[in-house]
Amino acid sequence: MTLEMIVRPGLEGVIALDTRMSHIDGMAGELTISGFALEEIAGQATFEEMVYLLWYDRLPTADELALFSEKLASKRDLAQPTLDVLRASADKKLSIMDALRMAAGTLSLYTTSDSLQDGAEVAVATFPTIVSAYWRLLNGDDPIAPRQDLSHAGNYLYMLDGEIPTPDRERAINTYLNTVIEHGLNASTFTARVIIATHSDMISAMVGAIGALKGPLHGGAPGPALDMVFEIGTPDKAETVIRAKLDAGERLMGFGHRVYKVRDPRADVLGTEAKRFFAEGDQQDLYALAMHVEKTAIALLEEYKPDHKLQTNVEFYTALILHGIGLPVDLFSPTFAVARVGGWTAHALEHINDGLRIIRPRAGYSGEFNRAWQAMTDR
Ligand code: COA
Repeated sequence: MTLEMIVRPGLEGVIALDTRMSHIDGMAGELTISGFALEEIAGQATFEEMVYLLWYDRLPTADELALFSEKLASKRDLAQPTLDVLRASADKKLSIMDALRMAAGTLSLYTTSDSLQDGAEVAVATFPTIVSAYWRLLNGDDPIAPRQDLSHAGNYLYMLDGEIPTPDRERAINTYLNTVIEHGLNASTFTARVIIATHSDMISAMVGAIGALKGPLHGGAPGPALDMVFEIGTPDKAETVIRAKLDAGERLMGFGHRVYKVRDPRADVLGTEAKRFFAEGDQQDLYALAMHVEKTAIALLEEYKPDHKLQTNVEFYTALILHGIGLPVDLFSPTFAVARVGGWTAHALEHINDGLRIIRPRAGYSGEFNRAWQAMTDR
């Protein structure tokens, strides 16, 4: 039997496998995670509960969740070799994503090589510790050891600045992590699947996934969305600044999406969270400005690009929420990895548990044939 060969650059539009993790309906603007609409679950579940749901395809009971959370919390600590890698990376001022990738490689020291489950638990549990320890080292501070009595989300913020987060900050980061934990067969998840599908190990799959996420075409650039808000500065300047950008043919960062042709449901969930988070405190002016910028941008995009229905995407509200929580821009992409490792591990476990095939597309050949060998003296 010969297979019919189809050429699809970038595998666009190809369904390579079935998954129970998530379903994206770009035309309706809907994201379903393990059966739950994103807006139903993201603000209610703890991050630990989301991971449990993805790994076991059901919500845990109270006892199961307590045991699961305890187990993850008990695996948060970093061993000396990991800290050594982070210190060496900080000496060279490497990017946080590079340091995370190298430190994640050392996690093989923590796991029994044949247990995918153990590898998944170690990866999810330690990513926040790695990112926060490295952030502190980069800034000349000593890492702060994780606390087992705090939630996954709360402990992440605690390890960054040593302050036990207020319930509002903890809730906001938890909702962010839940919102971006999983999004189908994106490049980093696909990378994790390709690696695990060869029956490699969980840590190798996670290291590869971090490498894929690091690229600006995937890991996103939520920073620039906020830059525009800061550049505008006051609501009365919004229209003039945005018009000037559109007149110059610039793209407005934080708007438009390749898959979602209506409003990105993740933007909706984070928008609701942002409204709650900024309702009190000293950042209400920033929130009001961001809302005005969003409204103005959507109206002007409708005027300039009426055929494209360009709406706010996840990056706009990611930037607003993470900035509001107090995270600097350099931590935005690594914090995305802290969330997405939940989805990567879930896909890897599913791939092996479902006995799915190795992933092996073919490449077309665009080179020459029948070249004649030339002696070195004739070249
Ligand atoms: N601002 C201004 N114009 C935009 C735009 C934006 N944010 N996004 C798309 N457009 C315009 C394009 O200029 C193009 O116009 P044209 O047909 O007159 O040349 C049209 O809309 C279609 O663009 P295209 O790149 O084909 O659309 P896409 O759906 O494939 O693009 C993105 C998706 C995300 C690449 C694009 O919307 C973008 O660059 N957004 C800004 C960056 C961003 O926020 N990235 C984070 C994504 S999560």
